[in-house]
Amino acid sequence: MGDKIRIGALISGGGTNLQAIIDACEDGRIDGEMAFVGSDQAGVKGLERARRHEIPGFVVEYGPFIRAYKQAPGQFELPRDFDIADALAKQHLFGDDAPEERTREFLCTRAAAESRLLAEIDARGPVDLLVLAGFMRNLTPYFVDRFNTDTNNPRIMNIHPAILPSFPGVDGYGDTFRYGCKVGGCTVHFIDYGEDSGPIIGQRAFPILETDTLDDVKHKGLEQEWQLYPECIQHFAQKRLKTVKMTHTLDNGQVYQRTVVKIAQE
Ligand code: GRF
Repeated sequence: MGDKIRIGALISGGGTNLQAIIDACEDGRIDGEMAFVGSDQAGVKGLERARRHEIPGFVVEYGPFIRAYKQAPGQFELPRDFDIADALAKQHLFGDDAPEERTREFLCTRAAAESRLLAEIDARGPVDLLVLAGFMRNLTPYFVDRFNTDTNNPRIMNIHPAILPSFPGVDGYGDTFRYGCKVGGCTVHFIDYGEDSGPIIGQRAFPILETDTLDDVKHKGLEQEWQLYPECIQHFAQKRLKTVKMTHTLDNGQVYQRTVVKIAQE
């Protein structure tokens, strides 16, 4: 067993993935220890789980920032190191056809909340990895750049309830089920500047039967998530993950690039 990594988690709700990660740290399936659990919602069960395991917790609510901007955009206090032009150029959360004012409002309000998040994180000492475990907020380039200080070694992970790139967004299992898919799944990936779009670390699939309800699909999916997330985190702890850009040339001469997370053998 190598040295333990320090892991921070962000949540918004029940935190069943958080629990799976805590349990894996405690029983040695992850060479890591939990440094903090942050939430954008007060009073959620995930914070109670953290308390029970004596993991420091904190809350940063986004609502006050969003309301303050709507009331007086001209007086809205932005983080000193926030550069709106840089954030607009890098972000993939909104397409070019989205109204710029909407994108601007989103980036400014989120960066202000993220600046508070970063301060709370810093106050708890350095962490090696940040895991999003049911955190229902998109992180902007402002946060991502400040946390991922080494661009070649991303260190923010997310779990998504669908086989990406299908069904990004807030309701992966619901979208999979409503589409009539025969297979559902979940994905662990690194965060980039888009929504559920970063390099894929691991995926799990499960069959969807004609008799399954949406609740059955969610149940099957979560059982896969609770195994997949700790496994991917342990690969990170063992320093086995390497994000590489690969260039391919087709027979017709067309060249394309893809980003692959390679997992080194143990
Ligand atoms: C999970 O399906 C996760 O993939 C998604 O949010 C759901 C709730 O997770 N991001 P949890 O029980 O709060 O960990």
